[in-house]
Amino acid sequence: MSASHPALLSTRIGDIDLANRLAVAPMTRVSAAPDGTPTAEMADYYARFADGGFGLLITEGTYTDAVYSQGYLNQPGIVTERHVAAWQEITGRVHQAGVPIVLQLMHAGALSQGNPYRSETAGPSAVPPVGEKMPEYGGHGRWPTPKPMTADDIEVAVRGFAASAARARAAGFDGVEIHAANGYLLDQFLTDYTNRRDDSYGGPVANRVRLTAEVVSAIKAEVGDDFCVGVRLSQTKVNDFVYRWPGGAHDARIIFSALAAAGASYLHIASEGRDWIETARLEGGVTITGLARQVTGLPVIANGGMHDVAQAAQVLSDGHADVVSIARGALANPDLPHRLAESRPLERFDHMMLQPMATLGNARLWQQAARAAV
Ligand SMILES: Cc1cc2nc3c(=O)[nH]c(=O)nc-3n(C[C@H](O)[C@H](O)[C@H](O)COP(=O)(O)O)c2cc1C
Repeated sequence: MSASHPALLSTRIGDIDLANRLAVAPMTRVSAAPDGTPTAEMADYYARFADGGFGLLITEGTYTDAVYSQGYLNQPGIVTERHVAAWQEITGRVHQAGVPIVLQLMHAGALSQGNPYRSETAGPSAVPPVGEKMPEYGGHGRWPTPKPMTADDIEVAVRGFAASAARARAAGFDGVEIHAANGYLLDQFLTDYTNRRDDSYGGPVANRVRLTAEVVSAIKAEVGDDFCVGVRLSQTKVNDFVYRWPGGAHDARIIFSALAAAGASYLHIASEGRDWIETARLEGGVTITGLARQVTGLPVIANGGMHDVAQAAQVLSDGHADVVSIARGALANPDLPHRLAESRPLERFDHMMLQPMATLGNARLWQQAARAAV
């Protein structure tokens, strides 16, 4: 695999030109200041991927309001003017390398494990989340049962997303990605067992996707049509690797159509805890990413083990996606696109890089130790 790899070809997502089809996937690094302000260390971190040749950077999940959205202590926010100014430094650094950067907007909902603004969590229904909090992001023990969100709570959350998108634009981002994946708030609404509502947001899948579609529409209304608004979806969750959309391709069609109709610029299908092929395969040889392309005609980003460059080549060449996003492989190889172009081997990802917490400081210590051991 080398300079002829299909991931090295340029493409376009919404209004954004990409020099290649390799995106850095969103990765929470819990390294912002306690008030959610991004740091100079974060600017260096993002600049490294831009200098390493990635065609697109998608930031870590960033909280969207001063109410229930924050998921972890030291998560960055896009809520205050200080946040905007600090993100501006980061977008400036990344743009110096000529690389576009999209901000991931995240509301943690019931999976919040650190939120200075509220002592309780909020979600679609009073269903205790499965599993336990994640120590790498500062949590331990079981998640509490969330407060069921009222119509007012929902409106505040939607307005939080829309106002955050406007602030992202002011901070110089090329677009936003709505985090509707991995078990967080919007995915809690989409998932049958966490959404027991009997209003227009609950029941059939067309209702369960309504909130995400409303967030897309609210953002479009706030920032205009010329700003990229992607949506990240997944079947698996940080606290449930086996969940699949109950209606398979039928549900997928309804979800994808609703988001396209609301004005999404691209769809990004994540594969938390699993390889793409494990979560992407649907009945009849169709893949979930391929189906998303077919149903919507929108650009689609595939994710999950794409540092396997042979798999990435197949996904792109066989029309399963337009772009691939890489998380762990990018941590191990911030210059992955340059390595691919020059046919240089990739470093393996070592989970110890994120221990005992997934901070940038711990990754630096791991790198120093690795260098000393050579
Ligand atoms: C340290 C770390 C933090 C992550 N944080 C986020 C996040 O903030 N938002 C998100 O959508 N996915 C997040 N993910 C999931 C990744 O974006 C990706 O879907 C997953 O790691 C599978 O891709 P990979 O095989 O390339 O690692 C995170 C993954 C890692 C390893």
